[in-house]
Amino acid sequence: MRVTPLVPSLGTDRDSSADEQVRLYYSGKTQDIIQKYGPGPRVHFHVGLFPDDSPPHTTVPQGVLKQHLLDAQERIVEHAARSWGAYETPPRRVLDIGCGLGGTSLYWAQEHGASVTGLTVAAEHVPIIGRFARQAGVAHRVRPLVADVHELRDSRAYDAVYANESSGYTDRARLFEVVAEALEPGGWFGLQEHFVCRSEWLDFIDGYYRTRLGTRSEYLTAAEAAGLELVRDEEVTDSVAEFWVQSMAWNTAELDRLRAGGEPGAWSRERLQQSTLAHSRLFRLWRDHAMETRLLCFRKRGGR
Ligand SMILES: C[S@@+](CC[C@H](N)C(=O)[O-])C[C@H]1O[C@@H](n2cnc3c(N)ncnc32)[C@H](O)[C@@H]1O
Repeated sequence: MRVTPLVPSLGTDRDSSADEQVRLYYSGKTQDIIQKYGPGPRVHFHVGLFPDDSPPHTTVPQGVLKQHLLDAQERIVEHAARSWGAYETPPRRVLDIGCGLGGTSLYWAQEHGASVTGLTVAAEHVPIIGRFARQAGVAHRVRPLVADVHELRDSRAYDAVYANESSGYTDRARLFEVVAEALEPGGWFGLQEHFVCRSEWLDFIDGYYRTRLGTRSEYLTAAEAAGLELVRDEEVTDSVAEFWVQSMAWNTAELDRLRAGGEPGAWSRERLQQSTLAHSRLFRLWRDHAMETRLLCFRKRGGR
């Protein structure tokens, strides 16, 4: 693995102050994420899949709401892995781009026996992922690194590359270029991502998550230029929209807990209120398909 440490140069003409904003955003969110989606060891920070016909109730205790979120996150990761063929042919070496607090890296190591390299721009997350990996008994197979994916220089080093809601932080042409180089021939690149359908909402979402989300066609163009072939394209917008509803319900339950004199957690009342307002907007954008969530899988030609 030859990944340049994050500082000092980025090597591309990308906006380094925007990169710094992303790093600060994730460093500042660590305890929020652990409180809402933890305690671990598998902690995820991405939307999840709900059954279309019978979404779970929201008038339930806060702990049950949290479980709904965690179950939905695990469900979407498992669903994607299954539809990309990982159960029939488990990838031995996985690169998890933008590994967050390691939930997906641990998933690939625990469920598929993979050796996983996780990349994150938040240095504080590395020891936390290490602790979770030890708790889960897969410390020997999970290697979290502080690194910017744009600087990846690995060649034919992975059977699979995975990016769950992290490609939205990247320069797509560069992302597909480095991934194509990093994959073994025949290897696959699977991603879960949100795509812009109505651009008038882009500033709101990018401002909220510090992303630079793109369109599906932008991704397909970048993939083709890098020699990666689209083999699976599943739109899951309707099945993930409920995530915003359950997340809002958890926020409201936390506000109620604080109002009743409960011990303060990582989330301030102000943050809970902001998040709830933003999520109510996000729900409408997903319901109206102004944004779409997709599971895409690309394959590098050659090999098997
Ligand atoms: C929404 S979180 C997703 C976390 C994780 N994939 C999950 O599903 O739980 C986005 C992640 O992307 C990472 N990230 C953002 N920009 C990156 C970059 N240029 N290189 C590597 N990781 C990056 C952040 O550190 C963060 O961990």
